[in-house]
Amino acid sequence: MSALLEIRQLHAKVEDTEILNGIDLTIGKGEVHVIMGPNGAGKSTLGSCIIGDPRYIKTGGQILFKGEDITDEATDKISRMGLFLSFQNPIEVPGITLANFIRTALELKTGERIRMWDFRKELEKTMKLLNMDTAYADRDLNVGFSGGEKKKAEILQLLMLKPDLAILDETDSGLDVDAVHIVSKGVEEYKKQVGGALIIITHSTRILEALKVDKTHVLVDGKIVDDGDASLVDEINDKGFERFMCCEDCKNEDCEVKKKLKA
Ligand SMILES: Nc1ncnc2c1ncn2[C@@H]1O[C@H](COP(=O)(O)OP(=O)(O)O)[C@@H](O)[C@H]1O
Ligand SMILES: [Mg+2]
Repeated sequence: MSALLEIRQLHAKVEDTEILNGIDLTIGKGEVHVIMGPNGAGKSTLGSCIIGDPRYIKTGGQILFKGEDITDEATDKISRMGLFLSFQNPIEVPGITLANFIRTALELKTGERIRMWDFRKELEKTMKLLNMDTAYADRDLNVGFSGGEKKKAEILQLLMLKPDLAILDETDSGLDVDAVHIVSKGVEEYKKQVGGALIIITHSTRILEALKVDKTHVLVDGKIVDDGDASLVDEINDKGFERFMCCEDCKNEDCEVKKKLKA
């Protein structure tokens, strides 16, 4: 059985700056992986590269999803194949309502028309689960939504689209305690209902509490410098990223971190 997602030696740049320096990552069906790393390490860039954001130029390596090479594939195709990215900063889309956006995406994914009544019933049920006012379904996507409402709208899309792999990019950052709880409940529900795989980019443990984490990866300077189990998340929260970082003018030839960054 091939892996669900396999990234081999991925290099990527944006505007002539190399940001990813050889990422290797393998995710099996239904697995939960956590990616942690300091600000600017390249975590969001990795998510954008996987989903095919054209702003990021892949300069080397390969991305396989369900055994198919998606390295140079367009975002809409990748998304229809069952890959989902929840944005760190969801954008506002005037002119299309939240409900229409989700319905169109669902119809494109399944290739079938969905009966309005069935769709609304499922949408409203899911919105209630996320403590969302159902009136938001008919508001333009994210326009005037608060930070927490935007993140809930992302989780609503996750639950409605039922992807095989979801990348959640700091979906829990900047939210109040209640909103984090609801977002976590939504992710748990996705796991229960769909059993899909997750890549969770986070700085906290709250969103992970109800999940079984299979692997944790530490991303520094565009490279994965360490892998571990769920306990690595606690270690980082306790002690920070210091042991994974190497100073720019490091003169120590035996520096383990430098060796890993250069490998
Ligand atoms: N679209 C972009 N244009 C210019 N620079 C970018 C862009 N996206 C990311 N970068 C740069 O790439 C580096 C990694 O960013 P990012 O992937 O957002 O890091 P992280 O998510 O780990 O905090 C940063 O130095 C950031 O400024
Ligand atoms: Mg980021």
